[in-house]
Formats: sequence, C-alpha cells, structure tokens
Amino acid sequence: MTAPTPLIAGNWKMNGTSASLAEAKAIAQGVGDCPGRVAICPPSILIHRMAEALEGSKVVVGGQDAHWDDAGAFTGDISGEMLADAGARMVILGHSERRAGYRETDEIVAAKVKAALRAGLEPIVCVGETLEERKAGDTLRIVTGQVRGSLPAELAGKPFAVAYEPVWAIGTGLTPTTAEIEEVHRAIRATLVELFGDAGRAVPILYGGSVKPSNAAEILHADEVGGALVGGASLKAQDFLAIVTAL
Ligand code: 13P
Repeated sequence: MTAPTPLIAGNWKMNGTSASLAEAKAIAQGVGDCPGRVAICPPSILIHRMAEALEGSKVVVGGQDAHWDDAGAFTGDISGEMLADAGARMVILGHSERRAGYRETDEIVAAKVKAALRAGLEPIVCVGETLEERKAGDTLRIVTGQVRGSLPAELAGKPFAVAYEPVWAIGTGLTPTTAEIEEVHRAIRATLVELFGDAGRAVPILYGGSVKPSNAAEILHADEVGGALVGGASLKAQDFLAIVTAL
C-alpha cells in the first residue's frame, strides 16, 4: 500500500470577497512543483470564480460544508452537487466550528459525507477534542470515536482525508507538541486500518490548528502527518506558500 500523497488545504472560513481572487491566483502561481496536493476552500459564493481563475493550475478548489440531502427545502443550504457544479473537487465536513455552532453530530457528519460522495466530491472530515476533553485525558477516546462515527462504510475505495484539529488550537496560536500530534495521528491511523483495512493506510491525515510558516516544517514532518488544514495563514499567499513549500 502506497503512502498517502500529502495535501495542504486552506480553509478561508467566512473570509474573502472577489478581491481575494488575486490572492488565490498568487498561491496558484507560487506552488510550483511542490510534492503534494494543494487546495483552497473559500466561501461557497467564491467557488465558481475561483475554480475558473485557477483552472489549469495545481490548486484545486473545495467547499467548507455541504448538506446531507441532495436537494430540497433547506433555505440557505448548499448541496454537494451545487459545489461540484461550481467547480469544487473537495469539501470540508464536520469542522469543529460547525459541530459546535450548528450542533452537527457524528451522524450528521456521516450523512454529509455520503452526500458529498454522491456528488463526486472528496471529503476532508474533521475531528478533534476540546481543551476540557484533553485535560480529562479523553483525547484519544473522543477523536477515535469521532472517526468511527463520522466515516461511513461508503468511503471504502473512495479518496478522502481526515483532519485532526484540536479545538483549543484553532485560531489561538497554541499547538500540541509534536509528540502529542503523533500520538493522535497514530490512533487515527489505527482506526482507519480497522475500518478500511489496508486502504486505511493511504488516507492522508492532516493536522490543523494554528499552522503557520514558523511551525509548518516540524508539524508536516511528524510521523503520520499527511498534510495540513490551514485557517488564518491560508488567507495570505506568502504565508500559505511558505507552508506549502515546507512539505
Ligand atoms: P487556524 O489555522 O486559523 O488555527 O484554523 C485552523 C482551522 O480551523 C482550519 O480548518
């Protein structure tokens, strides 16, 4: 079984307007022949224009969420098919900001993953513990439980990634130690192999939470780290490119 191809994905969250397309183009121009895959997940309203602007480049475009149903009376929501139609190739699902802010359970995330697969999108499924859970010594139980609950059997044979994002490390400047990251990533890998057999070894496990140019190399070279999901530092081409080139 081949090792996972690393993936660096930028999650722009609720940041960016049409003026930010220039930043995306600068990223696409700067990635060169980096050894991994690179994605930008902008607000959904920018996906179409960004996909057009980056066409032919190494950088693919992704969504930040998609509904569990394919169509219907869901005011304000976006389906996987719509994302794919606009030019997205991937979609982030189960981000902790959605789990916490919109009460998304593992069951909801798993249903969204199935819908994303129906639309031909590659899911990036997020998991991670809160500070209270870490302090209580519950990290591995919580994270592996989220992996089991959020990854449906339909993922077998399909490309997807898991992103480990400790909630307390997101947007705080705090990061776990390299040993702590490796402990969780090894536990996620073991769970993936349990769920998907040998194919679970080829799934990239991204780390996310305060990844920046100054810590990217150490994090990206840690055992079982197959890339990064980058928030704030993905908004500036210079910072994001410094992370991509640390691969
Ligand atoms: P920051 O890189 O801003 O901490 O955000 C991480 C994140 O939530 C990416 O999905």
